[in-house]
Amino acid sequence: MQVVSVKKALDGSIAPDTKVEVRGWVRTRRDSKAGISFVNVTDGSTFDPIQVVAPNTLPNYEKEVLHLTAGASVVCRGTLVKSQGKGQSFEVQAEEVKVLGFVDDPDTYPIQPKQHTLEFLREVAHLRPRTNTFGAITRVRHVAAQAVHRFFHEEGFFWVNTPIITASDAEGAGQMFRVSTLDAVNPPRTDGGKIDWGKDFFGKEAYLTVSGQLNVEAYCLALSKVYTFGPTFRAENSNTTRHLAEFWMIEPELAFADLNEDANLAERFLKYVFKAVLNECGPDMKFFEERQQKGVIERMEKFINSSFERIDYTDAIEILKKAKKKFDYAPEWGNDLQTEHERYLTEEHVGRPVVVMNYPEKIKAFYMRLNEDGRTVAAMDVLAPGIGEIIGGSQREERLDMLDKRMVQFGLKPEHYQWYRDLRRYGSVPHAGFGLGFERLIVYMCGLQNIRDAIPYPRVPGSAQF
Ligand code: 4AD
Ligand code: MG
Repeated sequence: MQVVSVKKALDGSIAPDTKVEVRGWVRTRRDSKAGISFVNVTDGSTFDPIQVVAPNTLPNYEKEVLHLTAGASVVCRGTLVKSQGKGQSFEVQAEEVKVLGFVDDPDTYPIQPKQHTLEFLREVAHLRPRTNTFGAITRVRHVAAQAVHRFFHEEGFFWVNTPIITASDAEGAGQMFRVSTLDAVNPPRTDGGKIDWGKDFFGKEAYLTVSGQLNVEAYCLALSKVYTFGPTFRAENSNTTRHLAEFWMIEPELAFADLNEDANLAERFLKYVFKAVLNECGPDMKFFEERQQKGVIERMEKFINSSFERIDYTDAIEILKKAKKKFDYAPEWGNDLQTEHERYLTEEHVGRPVVVMNYPEKIKAFYMRLNEDGRTVAAMDVLAPGIGEIIGGSQREERLDMLDKRMVQFGLKPEHYQWYRDLRRYGSVPHAGFGLGFERLIVYMCGLQNIRDAIPYPRVPGSAQF
């Protein structure tokens, strides 16, 4: 008896007539008049369930098999055979169906075998992994994460684990969650009605990181090619379909590199991850194509096969001003591009991914390198058809005097960034990097409408349940 995953049982690598054991959860059960039940069982290893054919000669047929409902857990032993029915390649002719756990009150079980709305499924985030949709998203997320690490490894980058608790506001935008010590022995007092959270981080002010960039820069200036991939936090109170308070970010950093090399890296990187997902997640992608968004696969294929257009921000503003399209916000030099502008540039103006470069210095972060013109910085945003900005990056200010000026201009205190300044004092070199919000990538690849479906447990204003 060979224990096999549903994926392996279905993929043709096991010879027909092999005795197998399949473990999983019931999707559906159908009983024929001839006294045979067809139980679809899934274990999450692949999109499709396997059909288990259970005859009424099984000793527990009447008492148990006929009471199986969606969500019940089973261990099925039997013979793997080529399926006669259409829609599946193999099935298991069961000799034993052991029920490990029935579903209490099947009528109120939230995950019924029907199509649920994504809004409803967010209310049952602990059960939604049992649906087709969240099984597929989870597998795509995994394959994409593996591809991210593989890409950087193959390109000679080292993965650096940057801290989650930090004192530095990496974006200088004041969107940080504060960390405090919940002391079990001396719990927070409520003196005068005001909660005293006491100690912060062992007596020091500390926050959850908004980006690992500053920390990874330190490693870049020693190991040349590095990246960080971990959770980041933003206390922006925006209730949108594109923002999370907790999201995962991928941030490579490249020494001896300028903005053009940074854009080249971003292009190779995105194409690599897309290819991996198309190659390794065939059935899941087919499902997204059919059920989430028609054209997602073609969109990714086009992305892989097109070279990215590069447009200077200043030229982009001119293009937008000349456009016949009416925008809700008029494009104006000095303002950030709105999503409608970004989508016009990438979808209508060039019809492929676009890298917009050299933004006005006033609207970008303090660490970005000031260009010779004194009014723009070496920043880039990668815009993708169907979504707009997907990656943000820049060449970093490697000149200490310029960095200090920018910090003061942004109202930051250079003394709070001494360690970061050191990197410009000891063997400074030009360097560049970018950040990709992992969930934005998942939204794009799976054709989702809401970023809350791209992460297992979304953290947004008003929700830290589960
Ligand atoms: O543009 P951002 O703020 O850039 C940085 O954090 C830089 N330190 C990156 C770098 O150069 N190393 O964020 C980068 C990306 C955005 O392009 C977007 O994909 C994602 O992070 N992002 C969010 N994703 C989900 N929810 C949010 N609230 C996000 N904010 C940014
Ligand atoms: Mg950005």
